[in-house]
Amino acid sequence: LTSEFESDRSQAHNRDAFEALRVKWVGRKQGLMNEIGDLLKTAPPEARRDVGTQFNAFKKLVEAQCDFEAVRDEFHATMAQAGFPVQREVARGIDITLPGAVRTPGIAHPLLQTMEAVVKVFHQLGYSTSLGPQVETDFYNFEALNFPPNHPARDTQDTLQIAGQSGKPSRDRLLMRTHTSPVQIRSMVAGPPPLRIVIPGKVHRNDAADATHSPIFHQVEGLCVDTNITFSDLKGTLDHAMRALFGSAVKTRFFPSFFPFTEPSADVQISCIFCGGSGCRKCKHSGWIELLGCGMVDPAVFASVTEERRKLGFDDNAYDPARISGFAFGMGVERIAMILHGVSDIGQFYSGDMRFLEQFA
Ligand code: PHE
Repeated sequence: LTSEFESDRSQAHNRDAFEALRVKWVGRKQGLMNEIGDLLKTAPPEARRDVGTQFNAFKKLVEAQCDFEAVRDEFHATMAQAGFPVQREVARGIDITLPGAVRTPGIAHPLLQTMEAVVKVFHQLGYSTSLGPQVETDFYNFEALNFPPNHPARDTQDTLQIAGQSGKPSRDRLLMRTHTSPVQIRSMVAGPPPLRIVIPGKVHRNDAADATHSPIFHQVEGLCVDTNITFSDLKGTLDHAMRALFGSAVKTRFFPSFFPFTEPSADVQISCIFCGGSGCRKCKHSGWIELLGCGMVDPAVFASVTEERRKLGFDDNAYDPARISGFAFGMGVERIAMILHGVSDIGQFYSGDMRFLEQFA
């Protein structure tokens, strides 16, 4: 009985709840105390005295605890003793027994959290962050990256062109960047190697939205240029990064691929983090999940960079492919976040639905 009362009492948080508590326990007609009191009258005479004393003590406690005004006054007294200006607040008509207004502190969006997690892995390897504009020129987004004009590889990028550019030479035409790779060029043009950078950012493609595509999404690009950079460095770096992101049990494997700006190029897969590689629905029973593109920087890219640096007056031939080499990689942030958190619809990230977002607090 005591524990039932304590449970009821601990759930009474306002005046109405107190009234219900009072009716249930000390109500004149059907209150439990009265009912039990009546019941005790039928107890055998030799036990009546003992049971009666115990019951009366309990009843007194219950009555005191069901008295809203008394409980409130006692609460005020305790608060006042703790230094809270009770009299003043009560005088101002503020009921300090009411629960406070809950203010939910903001959190970083899950995509930002994921992007920051990826960037952090590379910061720990000595990379720094570079950023570039979302409105790019054809030169940085395509030409300098060894996409010749009218090359079919441009079609794979579904470019959103800015209107009214046809009067300009094609290299100066503005478009929404389709990947973060133009920032590779901007960073190399800006300074000599060694270079170790990560490039987080928004990219745009003329894609129809579906469960796995969005016309605006995010990438993290990486670029490392120095003397003696080899494909082994690329493999070791990405192998480490994938284990740092997805857990130390994750394996990576590299497949031949093609990008105009890397040679050789590879697609990287990680062992399925859901089944550990044995095969499940998430990895279409292959045991592997395709995650990113990468490769060794194509000498044609270094040539564009060198030509551009010459125009700016840098005649040091700092990006001479006879002396330096590099690797680059690019990954989709949404894709990583979906895998990490088991999200099956990319649209959830842009919905602003608090029920979804709150899970990332
Ligand atoms: N930019 C490529 C894409 O968006 C990814 C990539 C980056 C591939 C760097 C290789 C090297 O598909």
